[in-house]
Amino acid sequence: MAAEVIQMTEDVINKEAIARAGKILKDGGLVAFPTETVYGLGGNAMDPTASMKIYAAKGRPSDNPLIVHIAEMKSLEKIVTNIPEKARILAEKYWPGPLTMILQKAEIVPMETTGGLNTVAVRFPSDKIAQELIRAAGGYVAAPSANTSGRPSPTTAEHVREDLGTVIDMILDGGPVGIGLESTIVDFTEEIPIVLRPGYISLEMLRETLGEVKMDKGLIAPDSKVRPKAPGMKYRHYAPKADLAIVKGPMEKVIAAINHFLKEDEKSGKKVGIIATEETKKYYSGGIVKCIGSREEEETIAHNLYEVLREFDQCEVNVIYSEEFYTPRMGQAIMNRLLKAAGHKIINVQEEAE
Ligand code: TXA
Ligand code: MG
Repeated sequence: MAAEVIQMTEDVINKEAIARAGKILKDGGLVAFPTETVYGLGGNAMDPTASMKIYAAKGRPSDNPLIVHIAEMKSLEKIVTNIPEKARILAEKYWPGPLTMILQKAEIVPMETTGGLNTVAVRFPSDKIAQELIRAAGGYVAAPSANTSGRPSPTTAEHVREDLGTVIDMILDGGPVGIGLESTIVDFTEEIPIVLRPGYISLEMLRETLGEVKMDKGLIAPDSKVRPKAPGMKYRHYAPKADLAIVKGPMEKVIAAINHFLKEDEKSGKKVGIIATEETKKYYSGGIVKCIGSREEEETIAHNLYEVLREFDQCEVNVIYSEEFYTPRMGQAIMNRLLKAAGHKIINVQEEAE
């Protein structure tokens, strides 16, 4: 059966629909909902059967743990055994918001929800629809991104419907999300906090608040034998259907190289997609050029990345070339997702040696 889709905004919340959605979750069903990062696929975090249903709906391996979403600071105490001082400081600064913390889990959290781990990922989203839903569901909602495993995370309710419309009960449509990339994940189970997934809250912002913070080695050297600490980061997520390559180097060389590949590929009958920016789009001589945003406003690039990848799936290109986007603050998060989508395929057109 098709999921019921209900539209609302953060300013005008449909209380009746939230009450019904809360009841669906309490009864073990699945409801997708907006957050400030991406749409989530919610189930009752305290119900092992609901967590198993989430894995099944997404086609996700059940060793890849879910994030438990809360809507009150005090809910945290019930699901973790200990809150380190630094975690408390970070929560005070960034919750509600795009931050997920890994802590030692309390007995009450089912192993199904944490993918068999003794730790639990917790997030307090700032989206008001998400908060109302979590409260209506009893306070603890397990939610991965609401996409089919291997597809880009959904940034609109329509994306959710495309992927999961026939396998879940309800979709709360709060319009397009704000940020467009998943939350920053910080692991507090070791002495020094470790970033397991970069996001809107950057490493620099974390260091400003906490002092020393490490980056997970599995993220820095993703091709090496070091496994990422977040089980989900080892999978080739966000993969478009076409082959995607990132072209790296000085801007003029990147544009010239992409125009050259375009010609060659078109000669051999391939349909080519190009991911460009407001500043560069006019320099491409053909292919399907999609503008991801402006280099002057990095938020636009983060916001449009997944939408652009999904659009390319629909226009059935064979290859996609993308510029790189090492923007000042969110560049690390944007490039982390883009590199994963590309399976780390990079074409280097660096400056020639003098
Ligand atoms: O912004 C977000 O975080 C979105 C919205 C819906 O809140 N959720 C999201 O969930 O991105 P998901 O399931 O797509 O990604 C969760 C990531 C996965 O890479 C998973 O492996 C990791 O968090 N994770 C969850 N629990 C963990 C744990 N106990 N230890 C290490 N990594 C964990
Ligand atoms: Mg995901």
